[in-house]
Amino acid sequence: MKEQKKYIQENKDRFLEELKDLLRIPSISADSSYKDDVMKTAEAVAEKLKEAGAEKTEICATPGYPIVYGEKTVNPELPTVLVYGHYDVQPPDPLDLWHSDPFEPVIKKTDIHPEGAIFARGACDDKGQMFMHVKAFEVMNQTNSLACNVKFMIEGEEEVGSENLGWFVERNKEKLAADVILISDTGMLANDTPSITTGLRGLSYVEVKVTGPNRDLHSGLYGGAVANPINILTQMIASLHDENNYITIPGFYDDVEELSEEERAEMAKAPFSLEDYKKALDLKDVWGEKGYVTMERNSIRPTLDINGIWGGYTGEGAKTVIASEAFAKISMRLVPHQDSKKITGLFTQHFKSIAPDSVKVEVTPHHGGEPYVSPTDSPGYQAASKAMEDTFGKKPIPVRSGGSIPIVALFEKELGLKSILMGFGLDSDAIHSPNEHYGVFNFIRGIETIPQFYRHFAELKK
Ligand code: BES
Ligand code: MN
Ligand code: MN
Repeated sequence: MKEQKKYIQENKDRFLEELKDLLRIPSISADSSYKDDVMKTAEAVAEKLKEAGAEKTEICATPGYPIVYGEKTVNPELPTVLVYGHYDVQPPDPLDLWHSDPFEPVIKKTDIHPEGAIFARGACDDKGQMFMHVKAFEVMNQTNSLACNVKFMIEGEEEVGSENLGWFVERNKEKLAADVILISDTGMLANDTPSITTGLRGLSYVEVKVTGPNRDLHSGLYGGAVANPINILTQMIASLHDENNYITIPGFYDDVEELSEEERAEMAKAPFSLEDYKKALDLKDVWGEKGYVTMERNSIRPTLDINGIWGGYTGEGAKTVIASEAFAKISMRLVPHQDSKKITGLFTQHFKSIAPDSVKVEVTPHHGGEPYVSPTDSPGYQAASKAMEDTFGKKPIPVRSGGSIPIVALFEKELGLKSILMGFGLDSDAIHSPNEHYGVFNFIRGIETIPQFYRHFAELKK
């Protein structure tokens, strides 16, 4: 560990420069005009894996963006760690809210990151966290301490639903055979409170369209006599929560896993300050399902949120119009035992059933994903826990996250493997938001911790 630490200290500045180079390529998977940049990023990642010591690297074509694969076999007798991450990023907009160019990384100090943080799109989600694994691999190779065989699988479509990763995994089960999957694409509670993510929510995502009259109408000549699709859409959406903020779709909660009082009491032990939470978001009060606290509402309970809503006139000044169409994008975060396809079906049926005859409703499903939970008594979890204890000097707390990484449930189904979610980001890192950043401390601490995971995992699998 000492030798590794020394190597990391001596090469820290270069590691940061290399990460900056990756962050400069705008690998926005959602926007096809960035196609060349996404492809360029895949090549850059493969190159970095090779430099770090991979015996074999491949850029595997899929019907969408390629998957970067790399491997090194130390000894067939040793266990194999499959590292997953993604090289694609979210679109950076709204651009005017960034304090610096999202694709020209800068290191600045913040209250939470006194050692500085790298500001750029993808700094935390997931280029910075993915790159920790590449550099940790280099560290282990250079210090002769690689304790497991390694396979890397870095994809370029996570932010758009990982559809082709499923395609790839189904066709490459043998190639991907491993003993555990290790992922850094989540967060931890605080820099002095390490935690390991033991659950992810699933996702059902739909787009709805409400159509009224066959053309936009004068709101004076027709107003009051025909249904306004925007009025109807907002009423329908408002009715999806009741006065206790429960979701009103019949059957929505049928399969929801209810935690026992003991499990909830255990969860409540994790440090959390509602006052700080409100302060960080400039909120007078929080909101949510009656009977649950904030930490439960954003992790073990399902949700329904409008992600975008549009229609009618939104330009300058006033235009008196009843629009012909209104639209919304709606996400539902799901918890264990809920099934994304079933929930999408229940939503569609219900949403159509509450529409008056004065409008037509269409529901289009987008990508989805299943929820995930991992036990804390597996060798993988134990290795991650010991590794973090080595570098933080504190045992990490198991925490269920509210976010989604749809591929994790698929890995379990297709490869029969649990994923260990050892993430080093913070909620305040503003992933998907303007001014995304990643602490230099977190980046370096990640590189220090990952080799300890390999060491403990090899030990526990003996
Ligand atoms: N890395 C995130 C997920 C995440 C972040 C989980 C922090 C837990 C803590 C991932 O890149 C992501 O953004 N996932 C999407 C889902 C995807 C289908 C677009 C999400 O959660 O919205
Ligand atoms: Mn991510
Ligand atoms: Mn993301």
